[in-house]
Amino acid sequence: MYSMYEDLQKRLSPKRFTHSLGVAKTAVLLARQYGVDEETAYIAGLAHDCAKELPLPIMQQVVNEAGLLIDPYMLASTALLHGAAGAVVAANRYGIDDEDILEAIRVHTTGKVGMTTLEKIIFLADYIEPSRTYPAVTAIREATKEGLNQGVLAGYNSTISLLIRQNSSIYFKTVLGRNDILQEIMDGR
Ligand SMILES: [Fe+2]
Ligand SMILES: [Fe+2]
Repeated sequence: MYSMYEDLQKRLSPKRFTHSLGVAKTAVLLARQYGVDEETAYIAGLAHDCAKELPLPIMQQVVNEAGLLIDPYMLASTALLHGAAGAVVAANRYGIDDEDILEAIRVHTTGKVGMTTLEKIIFLADYIEPSRTYPAVTAIREATKEGLNQGVLAGYNSTISLLIRQNSSIYFKTVLGRNDILQEIMDGR
């Protein structure tokens, strides 16, 4: 693989690179705990925000050129679209061809119904990696001690609560993903 680490270090802001390394390391710890391949988790974590700092028109160009059909809500938001764009960049620029990794990158901005353990790990590591300092992070780290699904639910809840407080719209797949993980917890899965 073309040196993704060095390329990301060069292309991302120092803050974003530190965050990406934090997600990679946190993802490895969770992978060890939950029986996922550690190298897979590391690569997905390191790459997850590889498109995050691209301007919106470039993200749109990336997904259009890849022939992806993306709904207008996601297409209008860097916060949502950098997942889908990131999966394209990870494949094309870094040669990542593991579909499990690409999907974990793709859905880390929204969550989804029926997430795999790897997808949950990247989604959650994004919230709790060591350089994160926002107010809800302590509660999400605490919830993670109860289990992977509890951590993921706390992540969804914090995002949805924040969006409500900001009078922002909530992406529908995030609501569906949150309800799905809640159901998993209630079912004891
Ligand atoms: Fe992200
Ligand atoms: Fe991130």
